Amino acid sequence: MSSLKIGTFEEYQQAYEHSVNQPEDFWAGIADNFIWKKKWDNVLSWNFKDPDVKWFEGAKLNITENCLDRHLETLGDKPAIIWEPNDPNEKSRTLTYKELHREVCQFALVLKNNGAKKGDRICIYMPMLPELAIAVLACARIGAIHSVVFGGFSAQSIADRVNDAQCNIVITADGGFRGPKDLPLKPVIDEALTQCSSVDKVIVFKRSSTSVNMTKGRDIWWQDEIEKLNNNAECPAEEMDAEDMLFILYTSGSTGKPKGVVHTCGGYMVYTGYTFANVFQYNQGDVYFCTADIGWITGHSYIVYGPLSQGATVVLFEGVPTYPNAGRFWDIVQKHKVNILYTAPTAIRSLMSSGKEIPAKYDLSSLKVLGSVGEPINEEAWHWFDDNIGHNKAPIADTWWQTETGGIMIAPIAGVTKTKPGFATLPLPGVQPILVDENGKEITGNGVSGNLCIKFPWPGILRTTYGDHERCRQAYFATYKDLYFTGDGCLRDDDGYYRITGRVDDVLNVSGHRIGTAEVENAINLTQGVVESAIVGYPHDIKGQGIYAFVIAPDAKGDDSTCNAILASVTKVIGPIAKPDKIQFVSGLPKTRSGKIMRRILRKIAEGDTSNLGDTSTLLDPAVVDEIKNGAL
Ligand code: WT7
Repeated sequence: MSSLKIGTFEEYQQAYEHSVNQPEDFWAGIADNFIWKKKWDNVLSWNFKDPDVKWFEGAKLNITENCLDRHLETLGDKPAIIWEPNDPNEKSRTLTYKELHREVCQFALVLKNNGAKKGDRICIYMPMLPELAIAVLACARIGAIHSVVFGGFSAQSIADRVNDAQCNIVITADGGFRGPKDLPLKPVIDEALTQCSSVDKVIVFKRSSTSVNMTKGRDIWWQDEIEKLNNNAECPAEEMDAEDMLFILYTSGSTGKPKGVVHTCGGYMVYTGYTFANVFQYNQGDVYFCTADIGWITGHSYIVYGPLSQGATVVLFEGVPTYPNAGRFWDIVQKHKVNILYTAPTAIRSLMSSGKEIPAKYDLSSLKVLGSVGEPINEEAWHWFDDNIGHNKAPIADTWWQTETGGIMIAPIAGVTKTKPGFATLPLPGVQPILVDENGKEITGNGVSGNLCIKFPWPGILRTTYGDHERCRQAYFATYKDLYFTGDGCLRDDDGYYRITGRVDDVLNVSGHRIGTAEVENAINLTQGVVESAIVGYPHDIKGQGIYAFVIAPDAKGDDSTCNAILASVTKVIGPIAKPDKIQFVSGLPKTRSGKIMRRILRKIAEGDTSNLGDTSTLLDPAVVDEIKNGAL
């Protein structure tokens, strides 16, 4: 067994070499740090052509035994989850490992009592409560595949996801609280389920005590079901194959509807545990706070599975950074003596705009490590975070990864890897990045940029997209032969350090949320009077990228009611996170003779850089560009 944790830069270099020269030996050594019901027959078999990747084949395990049972003896009374409510005047709640184990077992029994079986798909649509983590772990306990849908998505988005995975159970809450807003959840589920025939049970956690409709025979209260157990909390963990599905998480791409990214039990467990322990240099007793929502991959990997498999204490926050004021994060850090804070550039930028006097009012001396994820962090935000939050004593781990990678791929190991503002620095052991040009030719050496690909599998790589393996192949493995294509552009500087420059495909990153242009266009086009639209991103001070919509709606030029109808349609079809920031009505879009929209030109116009639009001679109607330029917002 090789020790999980790297402590020095020399150890990092040794681990990295080992992982490249003998990947199977390397990962087997790491996997030995976890508990398996049966060890693997084969560490890895793979090809990126189909693709077909299997880690720890033949091994048997249950991830919840690694996250819960194995800690009971040594860490049973240690806090596993510290829940911080939206309203600072409401009491926070702590669940020890023993308590979390018990609650997971009990809710797993509730699922079973309601007909859930191994392999079933269960949709979870909940606010940030301990019960969200409990629901996730309870699914894993019985071998059901969870599909968590972020609480900000619309009824239509839920319906699409439930139908795609044919979920038979939905777990939700009556309502939730996020900042000053009440989140209606159950009514949204009710609306979604009018389109979903596969669901026969809805389990509702009572949180907001708002009045909701309960459909007889279908809807039941979480708390009532727990009561019915009469204190029974015996629920042995289902034995899972290393390559059995653990969960599905939907994410946007450049085309079509969101894809259900599939992760499996063994590799995902090893990868999230390993990366958590190393990147954040977690030590027993540390308090770790990840501000993401469990509805995104960051929450899956670094609120639930990674930290819990390492016996960490995790702060789970129900609210938003600016409620009741822009000091809320710092208040939580002070209150719970947080040692490790993992957040997003968009949150940092928004808090930065409220001034450094705010964090200065709090005792942030407990902080040892800071983390950033979700989008490129600009140097100004990096320095603000370093100066005003870490007081130049807490190394910043800028972590690059994706829903599809399962865990962190390129990042400094806190305190071990020298950091550089704006750089995710170096690949973690086991990660083999490669930069390629448009034709897939490798760009070697340093001081270069290109499209970022990965040339060798790591345990956390996605295995498929649910129900459509060909789509997985097309999206990630077909662009460049024998490479996993990330969709990101990347620079490797003279020191070999990596800086992710942003998406090179038609995917936007708005406040760290991934948004497909095709999805937004589709939602806009459903608006009455809209003929066609094109979406591009533009630099936005707080969100990183804003959404700029060019819309053809002949009868509604500059018309507010059409704008409102467009915003309403996007909110209904996707959710408020995908609402355009700017809408410009145009009479035509710049298209090539073959009918392809030239987004390059629209991007320039949206950025306000109209001086050099490049070659427009291949356009069907070059005059349209002048018109758009003159009407730019
Ligand atoms: C995309 C993945 C990974 C969890 C959150 C987002 C961008 C992510 C960074 C970073 C620059 C980053 C990339 C990536 N991204 N982290 N540290 N620096 N860009 O997961 O929704 O799957 O989005 O987010 O463009 O491809 P996701």
